[in-house]
Amino acid sequence: MPISAETIRTLHPSDLRVLLALERLMKRYRWVPREDLKGEAGFSDSETMYRLGRLMERGMVRFEKVPYDGYSLIFNGYDTLALHAVSEKGAVTALGEFVGVGKESVVYRGLGLSEVALKFHRVGQRSFQSARVKRGYLPQEGHIPWIFASAHSARQEYAALTLLHPAVPVPIPVVRNRNLVVMGWVEGATLNRCTVGEPAVVLDRILGHVAAAYRCGAIHGDLSEFNIMVDGDRVTLIDWPQWVETSHPNAEEILRKDLVNLLAYFARKYALQYPVGQAMAEVTG
Ligand SMILES: Nc1ncnc2c1ncn2[C@@H]1O[C@H](COP(=O)(O)OP(=O)(O)OP(=O)(O)O)[C@@H](O)[C@H]1O
Ligand SMILES: [Mg+2]
Repeated sequence: MPISAETIRTLHPSDLRVLLALERLMKRYRWVPREDLKGEAGFSDSETMYRLGRLMERGMVRFEKVPYDGYSLIFNGYDTLALHAVSEKGAVTALGEFVGVGKESVVYRGLGLSEVALKFHRVGQRSFQSARVKRGYLPQEGHIPWIFASAHSARQEYAALTLLHPAVPVPIPVVRNRNLVVMGWVEGATLNRCTVGEPAVVLDRILGHVAAAYRCGAIHGDLSEFNIMVDGDRVTLIDWPQWVETSHPNAEEILRKDLVNLLAYFARKYALQYPVGQAMAEVTG
């Protein structure tokens, strides 16, 4: 169950205060003891319990006897904090329709100064959900892996968009907070869902964009028909969290894999033959 505008709207400032306190304490605990949470939020026991109840109902917090009463932030809660932060800044004024769930993200449409896409990175979700880690106290760094990995993924994607826009057609970067990247809304559909009239022209255009990114020092790293959006003549490269710099030791291999993927798609769907070597030269030349 992803977050909805409705669940966010019904949150009280005191709910948020407990959520924020929980986030801070998760630097120390995997399962935060109620006592600590009370102190951190500055609420009475009954107020804390009431707020936790509301947060659990909304799927933002999880309870576990570990064996003490422990509470943990889960993705809906983390997403909510990120969304709240960007709303405070005025970067997002409305959360719109749910666009879809990917392998490692949840995307919504939204409104800011213009139409935006909100991409909540959710990395390590499955392993986090299946792993029933009972140990409460985090002995070392105290980074909850999924929080760290998801925020890192969002930072990576935002860095790519900032580097590439406007030299390369990518979504316009608007703001990042925690695991959330807010970016310009791109019209159209992903390449796998279109049948283009002139595949050779579209492929040339894509290779031109990949070359432009390369000149900026970036290789996509997950290029495929699912991460290219098409709207008439416009082609936009999306989904950048796994990009690498052109100085990366495996840069050539990563670029080649991207191009092999792309060319295989055009060969399969449009019977268009384009040698990989030529595409490599096109991009790096
Ligand atoms: N800026 C955008 N404008 C419009 N739609 C977008 C935008 N960004 C993403 N989308 C839509 O959301 C879908 C998922 O986005 P994206 O490809 O970035 O992440 P993902 O595929 O979930 O990530 P992963 O590859 O890790 O599974 C896209 O296929 C596209 O339909
Ligand atoms: Mg994708």
